[in-house]
Amino acid sequence: MTALPTTGRSWHLVARPHGWPKPEDFALREAPVTEPGEGRVLVRNLHFSVDPYMRGRMNDVKSYVPPFKLDQPMDGGAVGEVIASADERFAVGDHVLHGLGWREYAEVPAQHATKVDASLAPLSAYLGVLGMPGLTAYAGLFEVASFKEGDSVFVSGAAGAVGSQVGQLAKLRGASRVIGSAGSDEKVKHLIEDLGFDAAFNYKNGPVAEQLRAAAPDGVDVYFDNVGGDHLEAAIGSLNLHGRAAICGMIAQYNNTESTPGPRNMALIIGKRLRLQGLLVSDHAALQPQFVEEVSAWIRSGELKYSETVVEGIENGYDAFVGLLRGENTGKMIVSLTR
Ligand SMILES: NC(=O)c1ccc[n+]([C@@H]2O[C@H](COP(=O)([O-])OP(=O)(O)OC[C@H]3O[C@@H](n4cnc5c(N)ncnc54)[C@H](OP(=O)(O)O)[C@@H]3O)[C@@H](O)[C@H]2O)c1
Repeated sequence: MTALPTTGRSWHLVARPHGWPKPEDFALREAPVTEPGEGRVLVRNLHFSVDPYMRGRMNDVKSYVPPFKLDQPMDGGAVGEVIASADERFAVGDHVLHGLGWREYAEVPAQHATKVDASLAPLSAYLGVLGMPGLTAYAGLFEVASFKEGDSVFVSGAAGAVGSQVGQLAKLRGASRVIGSAGSDEKVKHLIEDLGFDAAFNYKNGPVAEQLRAAAPDGVDVYFDNVGGDHLEAAIGSLNLHGRAAICGMIAQYNNTESTPGPRNMALIIGKRLRLQGLLVSDHAALQPQFVEEVSAWIRSGELKYSETVVEGIENGYDAFVGLLRGENTGKMIVSLTR
């Protein structure tokens, strides 16, 4: 057996950000790596995920996921290789998905690790298109928004991990029209030319409501909300009778220091009999096998495309996270430790 590393680095939250995170709120620290205890495995992380929900975990507020503890390693989705095992279900060399990201080496309780097959898909795909964001798109569109063939769909954050999958899934299941919004002209071009969206617009180029009305003159039946704010207000304005919205995220307000006013046109919900429903991916774990089977077939056939923005090196973990909040990613933002 090759010798285990003696030390490994991990990102710690050292102060709770007020508004936009700052470098001094985080620290990359080195600590000893130990043999795994009974029923645990030691994993060398190869990729870890940075996700928008982590911004909420940096605040000391009660939410659906507990806040990060100060001066402790942060956590989140990661994939890696088992380098030592004290559990009979895992062998050295197995690839696993687990929840102890933001670090080079993770000692993981075996019941919290899931084997993944590197021959089926690149390992990083289990953090994106075949992982949590992918399931969010699938469950949000098909279950929460009750998408049906012939619906027209508007998705915000459309060039990101969740949004890019929502738009393509809608097209694959027979949407009449798919419209996306994103934060650059290059992303808009990518949505139309590479991902097959029918229309897209750059929300920085003008009022969202006006651009949405121009892109969807007949209105939309489904809105998949990743952004909130003026996007949600515009969508309420454009939703057709009996329209449905899956409220997945509100990234436009994650760094706000004041509470954000709601849409000014909520009264339209009544006359149009709209349904706006919140979505938490963790409620939809039962869909996982069906999701993986269907989406991996679409990936293999080339009908569903995905992108990753890969930041190399654990020392760049903070930059990757803030880059995600700034829109520097197309598709899933990943930190790779394979160098
Ligand atoms: N409810 C759940 O269970 C669940 C699960 C996963 C994700 N989510 C939510 O889903 C959304 C997308 O997550 P993701 O992992 O796929 O991230 P992502 O879309 O890959 O990355 C975040 C994107 O948000 C956009 N953005 C940042 N600030 C914005 C603003 N002020 N207005 C509009 N867009 C802005 C940026 O793209 P632009 O260049 O286009 O601005 C950025 O690339 C997030 O709101 C997240 O919290 C929810």
